[in-house]
Amino acid sequence: MTVDDAATPDDTAPLTAGADHSLGGSPIGGGPPVPPDAGERVGAGRVRPASLDPYDLGFTPRPPVPWLNPVLLAGTAVRVLLAELFGAYLDKRELQDALVADLYDERPPAGDPEEMWLDYVADLGDGFDGTYSIAYLLAQRELIVEGTVLPRASAVVMGGDQVYPTASGTQYENRFKGPYRAALPEAPPDGPRPTLYALPGNHDWYDGLTAFLRLFARVEEGHIGGWRTRQHRSYFALRLPHRWWLFAIDVQFGAYLDEPQLRYFRQMATRLDPGDRVILCPPSPNWVHEPAAYTTIDYFIRRILKPTGAEIRVIVAGDLHHYARYSHPERELITCGGGGAYLFPTHRLPPEVVVPPPENVVQRDSPRRKHVLAGTYPTKQRSRRFAAGVFTRLPLRNSSFLGVIGLLHMLLMLAFANSQQRVGSGVAQSLISVPLGVLVVFVMGSTVAFAAPRAGQQRGWQHWTLGIGHGLAHLGLAAAGAWAWLQLPLFGLPFPVPLLAAAVTYLPVVAVLAGWVVGAYLLIASMLNVNVNELFAAQGIFDAKCFLRMHIDREGTLTIYPVAVDRVSRKWRANPDGAPHEPWIEPEQPIAVHLAEAPIKIR
Ligand SMILES: [Fe+2]
Repeated sequence: MTVDDAATPDDTAPLTAGADHSLGGSPIGGGPPVPPDAGERVGAGRVRPASLDPYDLGFTPRPPVPWLNPVLLAGTAVRVLLAELFGAYLDKRELQDALVADLYDERPPAGDPEEMWLDYVADLGDGFDGTYSIAYLLAQRELIVEGTVLPRASAVVMGGDQVYPTASGTQYENRFKGPYRAALPEAPPDGPRPTLYALPGNHDWYDGLTAFLRLFARVEEGHIGGWRTRQHRSYFALRLPHRWWLFAIDVQFGAYLDEPQLRYFRQMATRLDPGDRVILCPPSPNWVHEPAAYTTIDYFIRRILKPTGAEIRVIVAGDLHHYARYSHPERELITCGGGGAYLFPTHRLPPEVVVPPPENVVQRDSPRRKHVLAGTYPTKQRSRRFAAGVFTRLPLRNSSFLGVIGLLHMLLMLAFANSQQRVGSGVAQSLISVPLGVLVVFVMGSTVAFAAPRAGQQRGWQHWTLGIGHGLAHLGLAAAGAWAWLQLPLFGLPFPVPLLAAAVTYLPVVAVLAGWVVGAYLLIASMLNVNVNELFAAQGIFDAKCFLRMHIDREGTLTIYPVAVDRVSRKWRANPDGAPHEPWIEPEQPIAVHLAEAPIKIR
């Protein structure tokens, strides 16, 4: 059992065991073990899967990561802590200096019209339904979106978090590589093989990039299904038509750029001429998310790109799981993290941002400019409606969390009832009040810790107030439960009758009530920008997905089409008789797409 397996008990069950159309259903245990060579066996194109059985597919489709699972929560907390404490020790970027430093030319072959289609997708390696719905759309020969034909891109850039919750070879296989291979098993016959580049996000980093580099950064060209992989490092520079460039920088854990990476990009930047245009891809949209970390992006712009005279027209990042565009006449700042993972809200986004952010502490940073929020997906209105759904989605999607919190509440109620009922004195009274005291301290400590800001941010009055208020709400619920319990005739019965009776009758009810207390807390806290991520992680909303399809036309104009998917597919069927490059798995109903906003033209 790997550490990942131990950390994700709900996560180990395959989604299906041979059913032809139930991949989107609830987890079903079992399924035969996947033979080690199954992926290669089917991946080589000799056999197309006849069913959705993991043995046939060569990977095990996964349910979404259950973020409120208590064991996963604890495991993730430890990993985040380790990464923040020891990130510098895990950092393998310096070692990449030994790897090839290439510029990747993605211009069409000489003689072809000089135009190009390019995809950007991020935050993708999660539950099968969300991840595969997007992979399926990216792999289609063309998409017709609101009457416009958008052909398959010749290159896909993945902006981070290709796997959740933590990186390992198995997780990449089941949550990313398997679904993408199933969407485009072989190179399409009607054009050059599309390429795939990936930038690591924080979840790719939790094993120090080991699995990421094995998968994406090979010495020789590799492939993931029909896509070829070319990159040699965790960062890369692409040459695009009409003097467009794409620079993707790897800035994780520590918010600095390592010397080999700077040397690589300095070398690439020598190819840039004044007036060239650059799409910059950092891992996180630090104009709205952890603004202090924007320092690194600004440093890169000032020291590497600006001296060349090139213009940085677009910065695009994932990490926040939605679509948002902040606009300035000279630059678009786009967040697009809708590749498969749970939705992150848009309704808390500020109407404008100043970039570089005022939190930027570098003295010689670039001139500050105001960027206005020009578009979001989902809309702020829909995002608010999603937030209010916490009272139904949290209990439905977090059964193990409810089990643990229900157990805790039952013990708390019994401790309260005991302290009320047994009028002892001296040592006896002290002994009775000890468990209650321990539980009260545990509840208050947990809720205050839960409200704490992320590392590196200041804890403010709102964190304390919300944490204490949340704890008191749980204690109030337990006290009310104890009062109600004492009205019943069960309390005086001999042990363990009251305990068993409480487990059967009280625990299920209080688990749901306590879940609603947590939901109400999350909703209120999110209004003060506290635990906003948890409000949505707890709901696990896998609809409202997005990616960017970009077109550099023959005149050199870049048009960005933000493609939105309101509802991902839940029902799938195998496609054993398709052509080698056609998806192994088809949605039972077509996946509807539309534009998140009007296409953005950049000249
Ligand atoms: Fe993510």
